[in-house]
Amino acid sequence: MSTRRVFSGIQPTADSFHLGNYLGAVRQWVALQEDRDAVYCVVNLHALTVPYDPEALRRRTRVAAAQLMAAGIDPERSILFLQSQVPEHAELTWVLSGVTGFGEASRMTQFKDKAAKTGADSASVGLFTYPVLMAADILLYQTDEVPVGEDQRQHLELSRTLAGRFNHRFGKTFVVPDAYILRAVGKITDLQDPVSKMSKTSSSPQGIIDLLDEPGVIRKKIARAVTDAESQVRADEENKPGVTNLLRIYSALASEPMDDIAARYGDSGYGTFKKDLAEIMVDTFAPIRERTMAILADPDGLEKVLANGADRARAIARETMTAVRDHAGLPGAPASG
Ligand code: TRP
Repeated sequence: MSTRRVFSGIQPTADSFHLGNYLGAVRQWVALQEDRDAVYCVVNLHALTVPYDPEALRRRTRVAAAQLMAAGIDPERSILFLQSQVPEHAELTWVLSGVTGFGEASRMTQFKDKAAKTGADSASVGLFTYPVLMAADILLYQTDEVPVGEDQRQHLELSRTLAGRFNHRFGKTFVVPDAYILRAVGKITDLQDPVSKMSKTSSSPQGIIDLLDEPGVIRKKIARAVTDAESQVRADEENKPGVTNLLRIYSALASEPMDDIAARYGDSGYGTFKKDLAEIMVDTFAPIRERTMAILADPDGLEKVLANGADRARAIARETMTAVRDHAGLPGAPASG
């Protein structure tokens, strides 16, 4: 059997990935390169679905790509590219939108949640069709498996439905992709408010750890993380949400069971535990931060790497679009000459 192709995307919506992005996605993408044919995309078109600043988007798109490389995505072994550099994504979205039911799209819970936040009238049409663009991303590459978090399961299901429907109506065109639900690290919560999820939109800067935080900042944030009035290091979601969160983070970074860690620190107080956790985090993040900075210091080099990724992605995307146009009854662009 040939190597399975995986495709995944990440939005460039912040100036740094955060701890949750790293543990829940990026780190696992890196591992998947070992035995998969991996295609990874910075999905900057998805970022157009909410209000944004063009300069910030441009910067964040570059920083996202640099961080992925710095974290271990190898742009020679895998294909790493920017969604906007492969125009077939937008084109296939339109074709797929014709086989997507309005009701079906209306049932996407992520859209409903996001639209409820801004008020349904101010939500963009792009936010509504976001899952169709995501399906296009996946189907263009004849993807076998899509590594995503649990929150994307419904979108994945829609991609499968659209692939199957198109194939059924117009003839076999797409591989029907499987979800590859990434190992959940468990809920990583806000360091200052440990019952709320750590998130770029709702956490305060002190409550969230960014992949690009300086070592001194990481140490401070961990030292000041909210715990409780006891001094025992043990997991207890109910009564010790702060300590439990730190244990979970420690466990994920060190690949060590929470119970073992708790047993080791037990009654020695929170100080040593927090110090050690901060050092583990710094050991993991500082080299990624340094590599990211080095990559960003050479913009031409980065541009070349991404152009190469886009070329390789486009070769696959074009082939798929040729079949799509053919099956859907659309003449392609005439050969120019
Ligand atoms: N919607 C995904 C998320 O928020 C990002 C994404 C866009 C994606 N296109 C994709 C993920 C294609 C996997 C495959 O996480």
